[in-house]
Amino acid sequence: MTKVTMTVNGKTVSAEAEGRTLLSAFLREGLGLTGTHVGCDTSQCGACVVHVDGRAVKSCTVFAQDVAGAQVKTIEGMANADGSLGVVQQAFQDHHGLQCGFCTPGMVMSSAALLAENPKPTEHEVRHYLEGNICRCTGYHNIVKAVLAASGQDVSSVAAE
Ligand code: FES
Ligand code: FES
Repeated sequence: MTKVTMTVNGKTVSAEAEGRTLLSAFLREGLGLTGTHVGCDTSQCGACVVHVDGRAVKSCTVFAQDVAGAQVKTIEGMANADGSLGVVQQAFQDHHGLQCGFCTPGMVMSSAALLAENPKPTEHEVRHYLEGNICRCTGYHNIVKAVLAASGQDVSSVAAE
């Protein structure tokens, strides 16, 4: 075991990790940040997406030791300073972009990364960017609406559920 230190949601944190410890496990089991979900552990579902140095990363595909020293952001870091929902989170709530909520942390983190690099994406760009995030409940339309709404765009032309 090695002590691994990184900055998570603005705080410097450390926990023990083996060489094989995935970032997803490090966050959930080492740091108790269980908002990052694990749906497959095989890089398919996207429930585990976090930001590493500003980039969306499937945390089940990365060893914790390999991101030592990095700036990591998880769903726990997406709320506003006063505890209210952040813009993307609020848009998911407003547009019913979730049902069971299992995929939602990854969806929100991927969506936020998209909007950081492309503040006014088209519907097609949203759907393309979220291809790596699987939702078994919503049918995706309301998720796409939420992302477009979070970018300040009209969502009336997005296909209805
Ligand atoms: S748990 Fe990482 S992609 Fe599914
Ligand atoms: S809301 Fe249930 S998996 Fe997406």
